[in-house]
Amino acid sequence: MATNEVTLSTYKFYMNGEWKESQSGQTIDIMSPYLYETIGKVQAITKEEVDDAIWSAHDAQKEWAKTSLQQRASYLNKWADELVSRQEEIADTIMREVGKSYKDANNEVLRTADFIRYTIEEALHMHGESMRGDSFPGGSKSKVAIVERIPIGVVLAISPFNYPVNLAAAKIAPALMAGNAVIFKPATQGAISGTKMIEALDEAGLPKGLVALVTGKGSVIGDYLVEHKGMNMISFTGGTNTGVQLAKKATMIPLVLELGGKDPGIVCEDADLKEAAKQIVSGAFSYSGQRCTAIKRVLVHEKVADELVGLVKEEVEKLTVGSPEEGSMIVPLIDNRSADFIQILIADALGKGAEVVIGNKREHNLIYPTLLDHVTEDMRVAWEEPFGPVLPIIRVSSEDEAVQIANASEYGLQASIFTKDVNRAFRISGKLEVGSVQINGRTERGPDHFPFIGIKGSGMGVQGIRKSIESMTREKVTVLNLAE
Ligand code: G3H
Repeated sequence: MATNEVTLSTYKFYMNGEWKESQSGQTIDIMSPYLYETIGKVQAITKEEVDDAIWSAHDAQKEWAKTSLQQRASYLNKWADELVSRQEEIADTIMREVGKSYKDANNEVLRTADFIRYTIEEALHMHGESMRGDSFPGGSKSKVAIVERIPIGVVLAISPFNYPVNLAAAKIAPALMAGNAVIFKPATQGAISGTKMIEALDEAGLPKGLVALVTGKGSVIGDYLVEHKGMNMISFTGGTNTGVQLAKKATMIPLVLELGGKDPGIVCEDADLKEAAKQIVSGAFSYSGQRCTAIKRVLVHEKVADELVGLVKEEVEKLTVGSPEEGSMIVPLIDNRSADFIQILIADALGKGAEVVIGNKREHNLIYPTLLDHVTEDMRVAWEEPFGPVLPIIRVSSEDEAVQIANASEYGLQASIFTKDVNRAFRISGKLEVGSVQINGRTERGPDHFPFIGIKGSGMGVQGIRKSIESMTREKVTVLNLAE
C-alpha cells in the first residue's frame, strides 16, 4: 500500500499508471457509516486532471486494442488473483467504508474475482459472424459480410456505494476485455474500496493510462466527465434521478444505466407461504435493503395475508441488528439523510392508516427492520424506493390487482412471484413490466452471467457478463466482394 498512501489514510488518484495528489490541494473526507469517524481522505481532482486522464486513456487504448485476447486475459487473471490475495484487506475496507457486514464484504471480493474470470472466458469465446449476400432476394453469392465486434474507445464507469468493488469491476473487466480504456469514477462513499481494487489492477501490471481512477466533488467533475467529448460510452449504476440527469447530458454515446427499483414480491393464495416469507425477508432486508434489487413491497392475496404477515414477522425477528463487524444483517445506513428519508416514508404511511407489525425504531442512522401492514396506494411507501429496511405489505383481492399495482410503478427492475402453479406463474410473469421475473425466489442480480435488465425508471441497456461485453463494443461489417 506504500505506493498509494500520502499519510496513513489519504489516498491518491490514479492516472497514466501513477498515483498522484491533486493539484487542487483538496481532499474529501470519507466517514464510516458506523464508526462515525473519518477513515480516510480521497483526492478532489480538477477538470484539467480529468482531461489528462481521458486523453492518456485514449492513447493507451489505441495500443491496447492491438493486443490479443490472450494478452488481455493474462492481465485480468492477475488482477483476479491479486484481489483474492488481498481479500481480507479489501473486505475490511468495504466493511468500514460502506458498513457492509464483513461476511458480505468478503463475498463481494470473491464474487468480483469470479466475475473477472468469467468475463475473461466469455470474451475468449465470443465470435463474430459471417453472412451470405444471396440470402436476400436478388443478393449475390459473391458478397460475404464479416461482422465483428470492435472496441468502443474510452468507457466511463461510474459505480455506486453499495457494491464499491463488485459493481465497479463489473464495468471495468468487460470494458478491458473488449479492448477499451476506462475512466473509473467511484461513488465518493466507496472510493477507498475502489482505490484498493485499482491498486490490485496496478499490481497486475496493466499498461499505463488504460485505467484511471478519478475521485472528486460531483459539483466539479460530475457533469464534466459525463459531457466530456473524449468519452465514448457510459456505464452507470446509481439512483434514478442521477441516471436521468446523466442521460440528458450525455449526447450521442451509448449508455447503460442500472438505476433504482421498487421490486414487488407477489404472493398468490396457493404459495408456499413459509418459503415465500423466507425469500421475502432475505430479499428485502439483506444489507439493510440497500440493494437496487431488494424486494421493496409485498403484494399478497388477502386470503393468505394474515398468515403471510405472521410468517414474515417471525423471519424479521430472527434478523441480527447492529454493527457490520458483528456480522449483522441490519446495519446503520450509509448516512443520516437516508435514515431521515425512511422515517418520512414511515410517518406518511402511519398517518394514512398503515400499521407497524414490527420495527419503526431508530438509533442515529440505524433503522430497525420495519414491516408495515395495510399499506394502501395513497401512501408514499407504496411507490417510493426507501433503500433501507422498511417493507410495505399491500393486500390485494386478485391476481389482476397485483399486476396492476406492480405495473403502476415508475420502476421496472425485477419482480418475484410466489405460487405453486407454474401456469399462473407464467401468466403473471407475462404481464409484468420488469426486466426479470423470479419465480419462487427473491429478486437479485446474480448469477452474474444472467442478463440484468432494468426498464422504465430502472434503467436502460442490459448487463450480465456477455451483455456487458456487447454493450462495450460496436459491430463493424467488412464486406468481401468476391470475383464470380
Ligand atoms: O444494487 C444493485 C445491485 O445490482 C444488486 O445486486 O442483487 O446482487 O444484490 P444484488
